[in-house]
Amino acid sequence: MKLIKVSSQEELGASAAEIFAGAIKSKPDLVIGLATGSSPLPLYEELARMNKAGAVDFAKVRSVNLDEYAGLAPDHDQSYRYFMDKNLFDHINIDKANTHVPDGLAKDPVSECARYDALIDGLGGIGLQLLGIGPNGHVGFNEPSDVFSNHTQYEKLTDSTIAANARFFETLDDVPKYAFTMGIRHIMLAKKIVLVAGPEKKDILEKAMNGSITPQVPASVLQLHPDTTIIAIS
Ligand code: F6R
Repeated sequence: MKLIKVSSQEELGASAAEIFAGAIKSKPDLVIGLATGSSPLPLYEELARMNKAGAVDFAKVRSVNLDEYAGLAPDHDQSYRYFMDKNLFDHINIDKANTHVPDGLAKDPVSECARYDALIDGLGGIGLQLLGIGPNGHVGFNEPSDVFSNHTQYEKLTDSTIAANARFFETLDDVPKYAFTMGIRHIMLAKKIVLVAGPEKKDILEKAMNGSITPQVPASVLQLHPDTTIIAIS
């Protein structure tokens, strides 16, 4: 694992954007894996700026998002599809038909998980995966567990994740209790991974990078990935 320490959101955004723009320049139809939450926002802002300045072209890029809340429609203002449109896709020249997010309204969660796995495989896997890290070490919504998930999961969110995400909803009860998440397998098969984290993640990052590799700290599995860069504000 490579650790890049930065001192501000702006530096985090610039550092991560340089990696994304460079990878897209080398492979214009790159498949990028994307995350939501607050940590990626400086990256998305910088990519939008670079796209407007002609420094990176998303015309052929394909994207797959890590996760989506179960039960939220794409136009719900807390759905991850809405988040992606608002914070990135509406500001860059990506073809929205090439952007994929699990279907939060899927009637049959098991089929939706299988469909999402097949979709990622059909794209040829992920070239560059962006991750955040939850306060409990989750990546995507792969929560601490006894096993590393293999396939896309329909996951019950832990109380700690529901509490952490309550800041985006009116009440705690409004936070969805289940979500779809890409499994650890597809994340680990990504050719390159970039994980971005703010200063509040210092302790969990330390555990993930230097502690035991355990599904109780899902991000610790990244110690086994051959090309992971962590960009952390210290
Ligand atoms: C969301 C996702 C989550 C977040 C994590 C950190 O798509 O993958 O694992 O990355 O919960 O969220 P923030 O960045 O808001 O602290």
